[in-house]
Amino acid sequence: MNPQLVTTTEAVDPVFMLIFGISLVMLVGITTVMIYFIVKYHHSKHPRPTSQVRYNVPLEIIWTVLPTLIVLGMFYYGWAGYLALRNVPEDALTVKTTGRMWSWTFEYENGKISDKLYVPVGRPIKVTLYSEDVLHSFFVPAFRVKRDLVPGQPQYAWFVAPEEGSYDIFCAEYCGRGHSDMITTVEAVPPEEFQDWLAEKPAAGKQAQCEQLFQKHGCLGCHSLDGSQKVGPTFQGLWGKEVRVTSDGAERTVTADADYIRRSIIDPNAEIVKGFSATMPSFEGRIPEDELETMIDCFKPEAEDGGQAAGAQGEELFLKEGCIGCHSRDGTEKTGPTFKGLYGKEVTIMRDGEEMTVTADEDYLERSIEDPQAEIVKGYPSIMPDVDLTQEQIDALVDYIKTLK
Ligand code: CUA
Repeated sequence: MNPQLVTTTEAVDPVFMLIFGISLVMLVGITTVMIYFIVKYHHSKHPRPTSQVRYNVPLEIIWTVLPTLIVLGMFYYGWAGYLALRNVPEDALTVKTTGRMWSWTFEYENGKISDKLYVPVGRPIKVTLYSEDVLHSFFVPAFRVKRDLVPGQPQYAWFVAPEEGSYDIFCAEYCGRGHSDMITTVEAVPPEEFQDWLAEKPAAGKQAQCEQLFQKHGCLGCHSLDGSQKVGPTFQGLWGKEVRVTSDGAERTVTADADYIRRSIIDPNAEIVKGFSATMPSFEGRIPEDELETMIDCFKPEAEDGGQAAGAQGEELFLKEGCIGCHSRDGTEKTGPTFKGLYGKEVTIMRDGEEMTVTADEDYLERSIEDPQAEIVKGYPSIMPDVDLTQEQIDALVDYIKTLK
């Protein structure tokens, strides 16, 4: 028994053909004999039984042994094929595959994330299968691969794409309303092209970063970015919109601000947008806080948030205005507190001679730049000079500090 076949297709197809062939022979053989007997022993030709056979030892041995051998043969080939499906070739490339209601995400060893399964032609691919919520099933008919995703119990499957092309991936386990949306593809490309694709950095810029995050957490299975109708409301133009929601059975209107978006991700079923149903799973604890912040930021229109330009401008100011003299951005201790990881941190300060703890949010950062002497971080001297910056420049600096994680 050699479990190391070349492809999963080669492991499955011969078994299928063998069992199908045996079944076909049986069907045709039994039907033919039946029809022949119906004619030959018709009542009109033989009104009375002509023989009284009670037993026939050779015949009984044949019809016991022969089917046993056939069934054992089918089992042997089935088992060999199954082993081939479970034994992953050693040089396989591992891709972490996550299924959730209702989308797929593929994560490569270098951290690259994709919503299509890109693979090099001819190389065995091991997909490790994780479900974030309910049962799904990873099904690639072209490669004869199907494996259930069980929450809390990682599974795996493997396959080789023998030729370039695009092969369908389905979810083969009914998993709710968007089940049929769980369609994507295996994109088999030449190995060099695959390496290039893998090495390609995700496009820079806020929009690309947002799309990456939305993809990573599977938002785009149910929410479109272009206004088209899916299982959930579109993300297009959501920021600042008045949204009609139902909560606790009562209808009301809320404004889609940062709080609303956060609530909708953490506790999606507390407020249901009118016209949609309560099918979204909670993402509480499933998205790291920094990614959640970034995602919420993604909803803000470019202008409001300053976008990429502000980040660059902020860094320029940080260097030019001399902040870097007293504040490090890599965690090193200098005269003033480091900016690394500052945003969102609890800071103990002295205000009006009183000690208190505040959260370093946007307001705090802005205050600290505008009026540095009003609040002094515990353990640091009160030496920061007033700086002369426009509101726009302060915003840019605050935005930049927020990126120093
Ligand atoms: Cu996932 Cu059906």
